[in-house]
Amino acid sequence: MNILVVGGGGREHALAWKIARSPKVKQVFIAPGNAGTATETGLVPIQNVPINELDFAGLIKFAKANAVDMTVVGPEIPLCAGIVDAFESETLRIFGPNKKAARLEGSKIFCKEVLRKGNVPTVTARSFGNAKDAIAYLETGPEIPFVVKADGLAAGKGVIVCSCRSEAVDAVRRIAESREFGEAGNQLLIEERLDGREASVLAITDGRTILTLPPAQDHKAAHDGGIGPNTGGMGAYCPAPLVDAEKLHWIEEKVLVPTVHALDRLDVPFKGILYAGLMLTRQGPRVLEYNARFGDPECQPLLMRLKTDLVDIFEATIDGKLDRLPPLEWDPRPAVCVVMASQGYPGKPETGFPIRGLDEAAKLPDVKVFHAGTAFNEAREIINSGGRVLGVTGLGETIPEAKRAAYSGVKCIRWDGAWCRKDISDRA
Ligand code: AMP
Ligand code: GLY
Repeated sequence: MNILVVGGGGREHALAWKIARSPKVKQVFIAPGNAGTATETGLVPIQNVPINELDFAGLIKFAKANAVDMTVVGPEIPLCAGIVDAFESETLRIFGPNKKAARLEGSKIFCKEVLRKGNVPTVTARSFGNAKDAIAYLETGPEIPFVVKADGLAAGKGVIVCSCRSEAVDAVRRIAESREFGEAGNQLLIEERLDGREASVLAITDGRTILTLPPAQDHKAAHDGGIGPNTGGMGAYCPAPLVDAEKLHWIEEKVLVPTVHALDRLDVPFKGILYAGLMLTRQGPRVLEYNARFGDPECQPLLMRLKTDLVDIFEATIDGKLDRLPPLEWDPRPAVCVVMASQGYPGKPETGFPIRGLDEAAKLPDVKVFHAGTAFNEAREIINSGGRVLGVTGLGETIPEAKRAAYSGVKCIRWDGAWCRKDISDRA
Protein backbone atom coordinates (compact mmCIF):
# COMPACT_ATOMS: atom_id res chain seq x y z
CA MET A 1 0.00 0.00 0.00
CA ASN A 2 0.93 3.64 -0.43
CA ILE A 3 0.05 5.77 2.57
CA LEU A 4 -0.08 9.56 2.84
CA VAL A 5 0.33 11.16 6.27
CA VAL A 6 -0.86 14.76 6.62
CA GLY A 7 1.06 17.02 9.02
CA GLY A 8 4.63 17.78 9.95
CA GLY A 9 5.11 17.53 13.72
CA GLY A 10 6.39 14.93 16.15
CA ARG A 11 3.06 13.14 16.09
CA GLU A 12 3.19 12.82 12.31
CA HIS A 13 6.81 11.65 12.35
CA ALA A 14 5.79 8.94 14.82
CA LEU A 15 2.79 8.00 12.64
CA ALA A 16 4.91 7.81 9.48
CA TRP A 17 7.62 5.81 11.28
CA LYS A 18 5.11 3.31 12.64
CA ILE A 19 3.21 3.01 9.36
CA ALA A 20 6.51 2.35 7.56
CA ARG A 21 6.97 -0.73 9.78
CA SER A 22 3.83 -2.34 8.42
CA PRO A 23 4.57 -5.26 6.07
CA LYS A 24 1.63 -4.08 3.95
CA VAL A 25 3.22 -0.74 3.13
CA LYS A 26 5.37 -0.04 0.10
CA GLN A 27 5.72 3.74 0.30
CA VAL A 28 4.90 6.45 2.84
CA PHE A 29 4.37 10.05 1.79
CA ILE A 30 4.13 12.84 4.31
CA ALA A 31 2.83 16.33 3.59
CA PRO A 32 4.68 18.42 4.52
CA GLY A 33 6.80 16.33 6.96
CA ASN A 34 10.06 17.64 8.45
CA ALA A 35 13.79 16.95 8.36
CA GLY A 36 13.28 13.85 10.52
CA THR A 37 10.82 12.23 8.16
CA ALA A 38 13.06 13.17 5.22
CA THR A 39 16.01 11.30 6.74
CA GLU A 40 14.13 8.29 8.09
CA THR A 41 15.92 5.12 6.92
CA GLY A 42 13.74 2.06 7.21
CA LEU A 43 12.91 -0.71 4.77
CA VAL A 44 10.08 1.42 3.42
CA PRO A 45 10.87 4.83 1.97
CA ILE A 46 9.31 7.93 3.50
CA GLN A 47 9.05 10.89 1.16
CA ASN A 48 8.24 14.45 2.13
CA VAL A 49 5.74 16.17 -0.12
CA PRO A 50 5.68 19.98 -0.08
CA ILE A 51 1.90 20.44 0.11
CA ASN A 52 0.22 22.43 2.89
CA GLU A 53 -2.13 20.53 5.19
CA LEU A 54 -4.99 22.86 4.22
CA ASP A 55 -4.49 22.56 0.46
CA PHE A 56 -7.10 19.82 0.09
CA ALA A 57 -7.24 20.08 -3.72
CA GLY A 58 -3.45 19.71 -3.89
CA LEU A 59 -3.45 16.75 -1.50
CA ILE A 60 -6.27 15.01 -3.36
CA LYS A 61 -4.51 15.52 -6.68
CA PHE A 62 -1.31 14.08 -5.19
CA ALA A 63 -3.13 11.11 -3.68
CA LYS A 64 -4.72 10.26 -7.01
CA ALA A 65 -1.52 10.73 -9.02
CA ASN A 66 0.51 8.55 -6.64
CA ALA A 67 -1.97 5.73 -6.09
CA VAL A 68 -2.32 6.52 -2.39
CA ASP A 69 -4.45 3.80 -0.80
CA MET A 70 -5.07 5.54 2.51
CA THR A 71 -4.49 8.99 4.00
CA VAL A 72 -3.94 9.52 7.73
CA VAL A 73 -4.49 12.98 9.21
CA GLY A 74 -2.47 14.05 12.25
CA PRO A 75 -3.50 17.60 13.22
CA GLU A 76 -6.84 19.07 14.21
CA ILE A 77 -6.83 22.05 11.84
CA PRO A 78 -7.34 20.10 8.58
CA LEU A 79 -9.80 17.76 10.35
CA CYS A 80 -11.94 20.68 11.54
CA ALA A 81 -11.67 22.28 8.09
CA GLY A 82 -13.18 19.15 6.51
CA ILE A 83 -10.27 17.27 4.94
CA VAL A 84 -12.05 13.94 5.53
CA ASP A 85 -15.21 15.13 3.76
CA ALA A 86 -13.10 16.42 0.83
CA PHE A 87 -11.28 13.10 0.40
CA GLU A 88 -14.42 11.01 0.87
CA SER A 89 -16.29 13.00 -1.76
CA GLU A 90 -13.57 11.82 -4.17
CA THR A 91 -13.97 8.25 -2.84
CA LEU A 92 -10.47 8.32 -1.36
CA ARG A 93 -9.87 6.39 1.86
CA ILE A 94 -8.91 8.56 4.81
CA PHE A 95 -8.52 8.03 8.55
CA GLY A 96 -10.04 10.66 10.85
CA PRO A 97 -13.37 12.20 11.85
CA ASN A 98 -15.29 14.26 9.31
CA LYS A 99 -15.92 17.97 9.75
CA LYS A 100 -19.09 17.57 11.77
CA ALA A 101 -17.52 15.04 14.14
CA ALA A 102 -14.28 17.02 14.50
CA ARG A 103 -16.37 19.81 16.06
CA LEU A 104 -16.02 17.78 19.23
CA GLU A 105 -12.60 19.43 19.36
CA GLY A 106 -13.29 22.47 17.17
CA SER A 107 -16.10 23.85 19.34
CA LYS A 108 -15.93 23.56 23.08
CA ILE A 109 -19.61 24.55 23.22
CA PHE A 110 -20.54 21.64 20.95
CA CYS A 111 -18.36 19.37 23.08
CA LYS A 112 -20.28 20.39 26.20
CA GLU A 113 -23.55 19.70 24.38
CA VAL A 114 -22.38 16.18 23.58
CA LEU A 115 -21.20 15.62 27.14
CA ARG A 116 -24.54 16.83 28.50
CA LYS A 117 -26.45 14.61 26.13
CA GLY A 118 -24.36 11.59 27.14
CA ASN A 119 -24.52 12.48 30.82
CA VAL A 120 -20.72 12.35 30.86
CA PRO A 121 -19.04 13.76 33.98
CA THR A 122 -17.62 17.20 33.22
CA VAL A 123 -17.92 20.67 34.68
CA THR A 124 -20.91 22.72 33.57
CA ALA A 125 -19.98 25.79 31.57
CA ARG A 126 -21.87 28.95 30.63
CA SER A 127 -21.34 30.21 27.10
CA PHE A 128 -21.36 33.83 25.95
CA GLY A 129 -21.26 35.61 22.62
CA ASN A 130 -19.82 38.87 23.93
CA ALA A 131 -17.65 40.29 26.68
CA LYS A 132 -20.40 42.38 28.30
CA ASP A 133 -22.66 39.46 29.21
CA ALA A 134 -19.71 37.33 30.33
CA ILE A 135 -18.40 40.06 32.61
CA ALA A 136 -21.88 40.72 34.04
CA TYR A 137 -22.07 37.00 34.86
CA LEU A 138 -18.70 37.06 36.60
CA GLU A 139 -19.54 40.20 38.55
CA THR A 140 -22.86 39.00 39.88
CA GLY A 141 -21.76 35.43 40.63
CA PRO A 142 -19.76 34.01 43.53
CA GLU A 143 -16.03 34.75 43.86
CA ILE A 144 -14.65 31.34 42.89
CA PRO A 145 -11.73 30.36 40.66
CA PHE A 146 -12.88 30.22 37.04
CA VAL A 147 -11.49 29.01 33.75
CA VAL A 148 -12.26 31.10 30.68
CA LYS A 149 -12.07 29.39 27.29
CA ALA A 150 -12.31 30.48 23.68
CA ASP A 151 -14.85 28.25 21.93
CA GLY A 152 -12.75 27.48 18.84
CA LEU A 153 -9.31 26.12 17.97
CA ALA A 154 -6.43 28.08 19.47
CA ALA A 155 -3.45 25.68 19.39
CA GLY A 156 -4.08 24.76 23.02
CA LYS A 157 -3.66 28.39 24.08
CA GLY A 158 -7.28 29.55 24.24
CA VAL A 159 -7.82 28.35 27.81
CA ILE A 160 -7.08 30.80 30.62
CA VAL A 161 -7.02 29.38 34.13
CA CYS A 162 -7.84 32.15 36.62
CA SER A 163 -7.55 32.37 40.37
CA CYS A 164 -9.84 35.34 41.03
CA ARG A 165 -12.65 37.38 39.50
CA SER A 166 -10.46 40.19 38.16
CA GLU A 167 -8.26 37.67 36.33
CA ALA A 168 -11.36 36.09 34.82
CA VAL A 169 -12.65 39.49 33.67
CA ASP A 170 -9.28 40.17 32.12
CA ALA A 171 -9.37 36.76 30.38
CA VAL A 172 -12.81 37.54 28.94
CA ARG A 173 -11.46 40.84 27.55
CA ARG A 174 -8.47 39.10 25.98
CA ILE A 175 -10.68 36.54 24.25
CA ALA A 176 -13.74 38.61 23.31
CA GLU A 177 -12.38 42.16 22.95
CA SER A 178 -8.67 42.02 22.09
CA ARG A 179 -9.42 38.88 20.08
CA GLU A 180 -6.14 37.34 21.11
CA PHE A 181 -7.26 34.03 19.59
CA GLY A 182 -9.05 35.53 16.57
CA GLU A 183 -12.29 33.92 15.50
CA ALA A 184 -11.88 31.16 18.08
CA GLY A 185 -13.13 33.80 20.50
CA ASN A 186 -16.44 34.52 18.74
CA GLN A 187 -17.94 32.64 21.63
CA LEU A 188 -16.45 31.87 25.00
CA LEU A 189 -17.13 29.61 27.94
CA ILE A 190 -16.75 30.16 31.65
CA GLU A 191 -16.54 27.22 33.99
CA GLU A 192 -15.44 26.45 37.49
CA ARG A 193 -11.79 25.58 37.99
CA LEU A 194 -11.27 21.98 39.08
CA ASP A 195 -8.44 20.67 41.21
CA GLY A 196 -6.71 17.37 40.62
CA ARG A 197 -4.23 15.61 38.41
CA GLU A 198 -4.63 15.46 34.66
CA ALA A 199 -4.50 12.43 32.41
CA SER A 200 -5.10 11.77 28.74
CA VAL A 201 -7.10 8.72 27.74
CA LEU A 202 -7.18 8.04 24.03
CA ALA A 203 -9.36 5.58 22.20
CA ILE A 204 -9.87 4.50 18.62
CA THR A 205 -13.44 4.20 17.49
CA ASP A 206 -15.27 3.43 14.28
CA GLY A 207 -18.45 4.93 15.71
CA ARG A 208 -19.57 1.61 17.24
CA THR A 209 -16.61 -0.20 18.74
CA ILE A 210 -14.21 1.57 21.08
CA LEU A 211 -10.63 0.43 21.64
CA THR A 212 -9.12 2.23 24.60
CA LEU A 213 -5.38 2.86 24.45
CA PRO A 214 -3.11 2.79 27.50
CA PRO A 215 -3.37 6.06 29.45
CA ALA A 216 -0.71 8.69 28.94
CA GLN A 217 0.25 11.85 30.72
CA ASP A 218 1.29 15.08 29.07
CA HIS A 219 3.31 17.90 30.66
CA LYS A 220 1.73 21.12 29.47
CA ALA A 221 3.58 23.69 31.56
CA ALA A 222 6.88 24.97 30.18
CA HIS A 223 9.05 24.46 33.26
CA ASP A 224 9.96 21.83 35.82
CA GLY A 225 7.45 21.22 38.56
CA GLY A 226 4.58 22.27 36.29
CA ILE A 227 5.24 25.99 36.45
CA GLY A 228 5.41 28.58 33.69
CA PRO A 229 3.19 29.21 30.68
CA ASN A 230 1.20 26.47 28.97
CA THR A 231 2.77 24.87 25.89
CA GLY A 232 1.64 22.31 23.34
CA GLY A 233 3.26 19.71 25.62
CA MET A 234 6.85 19.39 26.86
CA GLY A 235 6.87 15.63 27.26
CA ALA A 236 4.72 12.60 27.93
CA TYR A 237 4.90 9.07 29.19
CA CYS A 238 2.82 5.96 28.77
CA PRO A 239 1.32 4.10 30.53
CA ALA A 240 0.41 6.51 33.30
CA PRO A 241 0.01 4.56 36.58
CA LEU A 242 -2.21 7.41 37.77
CA VAL A 243 -5.00 5.78 35.77
CA ASP A 244 -5.03 2.17 36.94
CA ALA A 245 -7.02 -0.62 35.30
CA GLU A 246 -10.06 0.05 37.45
CA LYS A 247 -10.09 3.76 36.68
CA LEU A 248 -9.55 3.09 33.01
CA HIS A 249 -12.52 0.77 32.98
CA TRP A 250 -14.63 3.42 34.73
CA ILE A 251 -13.54 6.00 32.14
CA GLU A 252 -14.46 3.65 29.32
CA GLU A 253 -17.88 3.00 30.76
CA LYS A 254 -18.82 6.45 32.01
CA VAL A 255 -16.96 8.66 29.56
CA LEU A 256 -16.00 7.07 26.24
CA VAL A 257 -18.99 4.83 25.58
CA PRO A 258 -21.65 7.47 26.43
CA THR A 259 -19.76 10.05 24.34
CA VAL A 260 -19.79 7.84 21.26
CA HIS A 261 -23.47 7.06 21.80
CA ALA A 262 -24.38 10.70 22.32
CA LEU A 263 -22.60 11.62 19.09
CA ASP A 264 -24.45 8.89 17.30
CA ARG A 265 -27.78 10.15 18.64
CA LEU A 266 -26.90 13.61 17.38
CA ASP A 267 -26.39 11.94 14.00
CA VAL A 268 -22.65 12.63 14.14
CA PRO A 269 -20.95 9.23 13.94
CA PHE A 270 -17.31 9.58 14.96
CA LYS A 271 -14.49 7.63 13.31
CA GLY A 272 -10.97 8.22 14.45
CA ILE A 273 -9.12 9.03 17.63
CA LEU A 274 -11.14 10.18 20.57
CA TYR A 275 -8.85 11.89 23.05
CA ALA A 276 -10.33 12.70 26.44
CA GLY A 277 -8.49 15.30 28.48
CA LEU A 278 -9.44 14.45 32.06
CA MET A 279 -9.06 15.99 35.47
CA LEU A 280 -8.94 13.34 38.19
CA THR A 281 -10.81 15.15 40.96
CA ARG A 282 -11.67 13.90 44.40
CA GLN A 283 -15.20 13.30 43.12
CA GLY A 284 -13.90 11.21 40.22
CA PRO A 285 -12.65 11.90 36.69
CA ARG A 286 -14.14 14.87 34.83
CA VAL A 287 -13.76 15.58 31.11
CA LEU A 288 -12.07 18.94 30.48
CA GLU A 289 -12.10 18.63 26.74
CA TYR A 290 -12.06 16.26 23.82
CA ASN A 291 -9.60 16.23 21.00
CA ALA A 292 -10.36 14.51 17.72
CA ARG A 293 -6.84 13.22 17.00
CA PHE A 294 -3.74 11.81 18.64
CA GLY A 295 -2.13 14.06 21.22
CA ASP A 296 1.30 15.43 20.54
CA PRO A 297 3.60 14.43 22.28
CA GLU A 298 1.46 11.57 23.74
CA CYS A 299 1.41 9.89 20.33
CA GLN A 300 5.16 9.35 20.44
CA PRO A 301 5.49 7.14 23.56
CA LEU A 302 2.19 5.48 22.66
CA LEU A 303 3.26 4.41 19.17
CA MET A 304 6.71 3.44 20.43
CA ARG A 305 4.92 0.80 22.54
CA LEU A 306 2.33 -0.37 20.01
CA LYS A 307 3.09 -3.75 18.46
CA THR A 308 -0.06 -4.21 16.39
CA ASP A 309 0.11 -3.08 12.77
CA LEU A 310 -1.21 0.49 12.78
CA VAL A 311 -2.38 0.17 9.18
CA ASP A 312 -4.69 -2.71 10.19
CA ILE A 313 -6.15 -0.53 12.94
CA PHE A 314 -6.77 2.42 10.61
CA GLU A 315 -8.28 0.20 7.91
CA ALA A 316 -10.62 -1.50 10.37
CA THR A 317 -11.74 1.92 11.60
CA ILE A 318 -12.48 3.22 8.12
CA ASP A 319 -14.39 0.02 7.30
CA GLY A 320 -16.36 0.04 10.56
CA LYS A 321 -14.85 -3.33 11.51
CA LEU A 322 -12.93 -2.59 14.69
CA ASP A 323 -14.95 -5.32 16.42
CA ARG A 324 -13.16 -7.90 14.26
CA LEU A 325 -9.65 -6.73 15.13
CA PRO A 326 -7.73 -8.95 17.57
CA PRO A 327 -6.82 -7.23 20.87
CA LEU A 328 -4.12 -4.59 20.46
CA GLU A 329 -0.63 -5.70 21.47
CA TRP A 330 1.71 -3.49 23.43
CA ASP A 331 5.33 -3.61 24.46
CA PRO A 332 5.03 -4.07 28.23
CA ARG A 333 7.86 -1.56 28.75
CA PRO A 334 6.87 2.01 29.47
CA ALA A 335 7.99 4.84 27.19
CA VAL A 336 8.95 8.40 28.06
CA CYS A 337 9.16 11.25 25.54
CA VAL A 338 11.10 14.43 26.33
CA VAL A 339 10.46 17.43 24.11
CA MET A 340 13.48 19.57 23.23
CA ALA A 341 12.43 23.13 22.43
CA SER A 342 13.94 26.30 20.99
CA GLN A 343 14.91 29.36 22.95
CA GLY A 344 11.86 31.61 23.19
CA TYR A 345 9.20 28.88 23.07
CA PRO A 346 6.23 29.00 23.84
CA GLY A 347 6.71 32.59 22.67
CA LYS A 348 8.48 33.37 19.42
CA PRO A 349 11.20 30.72 18.96
CA GLU A 350 14.74 31.52 17.80
CA THR A 351 15.33 29.24 14.85
CA GLY A 352 17.88 28.39 12.19
CA PHE A 353 20.58 26.78 14.37
CA PRO A 354 22.27 23.56 13.19
CA ILE A 355 21.39 20.59 15.42
CA ARG A 356 24.34 18.42 16.45
CA GLY A 357 24.44 14.91 17.86
CA LEU A 358 21.46 13.36 16.08
CA ASP A 359 23.63 10.54 14.69
CA GLU A 360 24.99 9.79 18.12
CA ALA A 361 21.49 9.66 19.61
CA ALA A 362 20.34 7.38 16.78
CA LYS A 363 22.89 4.76 17.89
CA LEU A 364 21.39 4.40 21.36
CA PRO A 365 19.30 1.27 21.89
CA ASP A 366 15.65 1.80 22.84
CA VAL A 367 15.79 5.49 21.94
CA LYS A 368 14.01 7.10 19.01
CA VAL A 369 14.23 10.78 18.17
CA PHE A 370 11.06 12.06 16.53
CA HIS A 371 11.34 15.42 14.82
CA ALA A 372 8.84 18.28 15.00
CA GLY A 373 10.17 21.75 14.10
CA THR A 374 13.18 20.78 12.00
CA ALA A 375 14.23 21.69 8.45
CA PHE A 376 17.37 21.83 6.30
CA ASN A 377 19.57 24.88 5.69
CA GLU A 378 21.36 25.55 2.42
CA ALA A 379 24.29 23.39 3.51
CA ARG A 380 21.81 20.50 4.01
CA GLU A 381 22.37 20.59 7.78
CA ILE A 382 19.37 19.89 9.98
CA ILE A 383 18.31 23.08 11.79
CA ASN A 384 15.58 23.96 14.29
CA SER A 385 12.64 25.64 12.55
CA GLY A 386 9.93 25.81 15.20
CA GLY A 387 9.18 25.95 18.92
CA ARG A 388 9.01 22.27 19.74
CA VAL A 389 11.91 20.69 17.86
CA LEU A 390 12.45 17.06 18.86
CA GLY A 391 10.64 14.41 20.87
CA VAL A 392 13.34 12.17 22.30
CA THR A 393 11.56 8.96 23.23
CA GLY A 394 12.97 6.10 25.28
CA LEU A 395 11.78 2.65 26.34
CA GLY A 396 12.82 0.98 29.61
CA GLU A 397 11.83 -1.81 31.97
CA THR A 398 10.43 0.78 34.39
CA ILE A 399 9.40 4.40 34.02
CA PRO A 400 12.66 5.63 35.62
CA GLU A 401 14.63 3.49 33.17
CA ALA A 402 12.62 4.78 30.22
CA LYS A 403 13.28 8.27 31.52
CA ARG A 404 17.00 7.53 31.73
CA ALA A 405 16.96 6.24 28.14
CA ALA A 406 15.17 9.35 26.87
CA TYR A 407 17.51 11.75 28.68
CA SER A 408 20.56 9.82 27.47
CA GLY A 409 19.32 10.71 23.97
CA VAL A 410 18.77 14.33 25.00
CA LYS A 411 22.37 14.52 26.27
CA CYS A 412 23.73 13.70 22.83
CA ILE A 413 21.86 16.53 21.12
CA ARG A 414 22.61 20.25 21.14
CA TRP A 415 21.95 23.50 19.30
CA ASP A 416 22.08 27.12 20.37
CA GLY A 417 19.26 27.75 22.80
CA ALA A 418 18.05 24.12 23.12
CA TRP A 419 16.25 23.36 26.36
CA CYS A 420 13.89 20.80 27.85
CA ARG A 421 12.15 19.98 31.10
CA LYS A 422 14.22 17.73 33.35
CA ASP A 423 11.31 16.15 35.21
CA ILE A 424 9.28 14.35 32.54
CA SER A 425 7.54 11.31 34.09
CA ASP A 426 8.52 12.18 37.67
CA ARG A 427 4.85 12.52 38.57
CA ALA A 428 4.41 8.82 37.83
P1 AMP B 1 -8.54 22.23 27.58
O1 AMP B 1 -8.00 22.66 26.24
O2 AMP B 1 -9.96 22.56 27.81
O3 AMP B 1 -8.13 20.84 28.00
O4 AMP B 1 -7.72 23.12 28.61
C1 AMP B 1 -6.31 23.17 28.58
C2 AMP B 1 -5.79 23.04 29.98
O5 AMP B 1 -6.41 24.01 30.83
C3 AMP B 1 -6.13 21.72 30.62
O6 AMP B 1 -5.21 20.74 30.29
C4 AMP B 1 -6.10 22.08 32.08
O7 AMP B 1 -4.76 22.15 32.54
C5 AMP B 1 -6.65 23.47 32.09
N1 AMP B 1 -8.13 23.45 32.36
C6 AMP B 1 -9.13 23.44 31.46
N2 AMP B 1 -10.33 23.42 32.06
C7 AMP B 1 -10.09 23.42 33.39
C8 AMP B 1 -10.91 23.41 34.56
N3 AMP B 1 -12.25 23.41 34.50
N4 AMP B 1 -10.30 23.40 35.76
C9 AMP B 1 -8.95 23.42 35.86
N5 AMP B 1 -8.13 23.43 34.81
C10 AMP B 1 -8.67 23.43 33.57
N1 GLY C 1 -0.57 17.18 24.08
C1 GLY C 1 -1.78 17.90 24.02
C2 GLY C 1 -2.39 17.95 22.71
O1 GLY C 1 -1.97 17.30 21.78
O2 GLY C 1 -3.38 18.63 22.57
